[in-house]
Amino acid sequence: MTTTIFHGLLVDTPTDPFTGGTLRAEQAALTVTDGVIRARGTLAEARNALPDAPVVALAGVVLPGLVDTHVHFPQLRIIGGLGLPLLDWLERCALPEEARMADPGYAARVAGEFTSGLLAAGTTTALVFGAHYASATDALFRAAEATGLRMTAGLVVGDRHLRPDLHTTPERAAIDSAELISRWHGRGSLRYAVTPRFALSATEELLRSCAEVLALAPDLFVTSHVNENPAEVAAVEELFGTSYTEAYHRAGLLGGHTVLAHNVHAGDAELALLAETGTAVSHCPSSNSSLGSGLFPMRRHLEAGVRLALGSDVGGGTGLSLFKEGLQAYFHQQLRPDGVPLTAAHLLHLATRAGAAALDLPGVGHLGVGASFDAIEVDPAAGTTLAAVLAHAPGPDEALAAIFAGGTSADISRVWTSGVSAHTRASQAA
Ligand code: GUN
Ligand code: ZN
Repeated sequence: MTTTIFHGLLVDTPTDPFTGGTLRAEQAALTVTDGVIRARGTLAEARNALPDAPVVALAGVVLPGLVDTHVHFPQLRIIGGLGLPLLDWLERCALPEEARMADPGYAARVAGEFTSGLLAAGTTTALVFGAHYASATDALFRAAEATGLRMTAGLVVGDRHLRPDLHTTPERAAIDSAELISRWHGRGSLRYAVTPRFALSATEELLRSCAEVLALAPDLFVTSHVNENPAEVAAVEELFGTSYTEAYHRAGLLGGHTVLAHNVHAGDAELALLAETGTAVSHCPSSNSSLGSGLFPMRRHLEAGVRLALGSDVGGGTGLSLFKEGLQAYFHQQLRPDGVPLTAAHLLHLATRAGAAALDLPGVGHLGVGASFDAIEVDPAAGTTLAAVLAHAPGPDEALAAIFAGGTSADISRVWTSGVSAHTRASQAA
């Protein structure tokens, strides 16, 4: 049993600002045993209780590790493909790179870049689109395990309208997924997500085979895309003869362990169905801007009672930082006539606790007793603009807003998952 006392300025959102909660910001000490926060109080209390425990002083602002609920591992190296709408971007930028994942060595190198990039950006938990190849998806799980990233991910499956080299069949998808589930689901902090790419690339048979895979183990997740782009939505409605959301529902793929990305162009009946089934939506604002998909109707989601979280959607999204996604979410609501006026507390909640809730991880996304010590220290280097702004911030709300406005990976000095720093894990692996 190892115990460490961490103390500093801790900022989190234990209560939901969308329903009246506020930011919690206090100088406090956390007693962390075997990766879990066992006590929270003053430094004097923690030291009195455990005089021999090592004490780690945290600088700057300490936040819960960020939770990215939608990101594509095979697309790391194609970030920045600007200027195309979704379906053209898929054909010209994303799918050619996804096909390169057939080479296990290439996939393993990208998996290393991806998992270390997420942690450097302060993301300690992620729901990740794997690759269309089982060997590449294995490489992703191996990289997550080595780096301590808390990850839910799966083999991406599609059997039409992609490139032939990315197509599978309903039978093969089920066999490959079952093998990956037996290797990775429930191992440490890894879990499996059944991942049909999107309804446009799936026959009804493939979607049904995905639903059958869900019965293979408890606590499996489902993730996919929905209502991202008008041309895509029209094509799905034409193929299935129903709404986009209904296509997933008929196959049995909606529920409290399902996270669908985007939902920019949702009908009212679809929002009601998402709320009724407990399906969560991952809002991916920088991708929605970059691919010209549209401004997310957040108010309609909140009024319908749909669970929301945040996703970077790399490589449609323009980088791994959830600070940028929070800022873009704020911008988009500023630009909509019915926009929700978001505060820094809303942004932090979306980037942490709301994501943890979407992933059914109550012990993640906050810094209270019982949570895993998954945390990030935001301590910009002296001389940077963000350091100057934080030094003069009148209070924690303003400091947090400045972090979302200007923070990058370079401002995150240390990252911990399950009480172990990413730096320590990297040096042990070397
Ligand atoms: N829809 C189907 N595949 C993708 C993808 O890779 N990125 C985005 N943004 N949307 C998709
Ligand atoms: Zn996506």
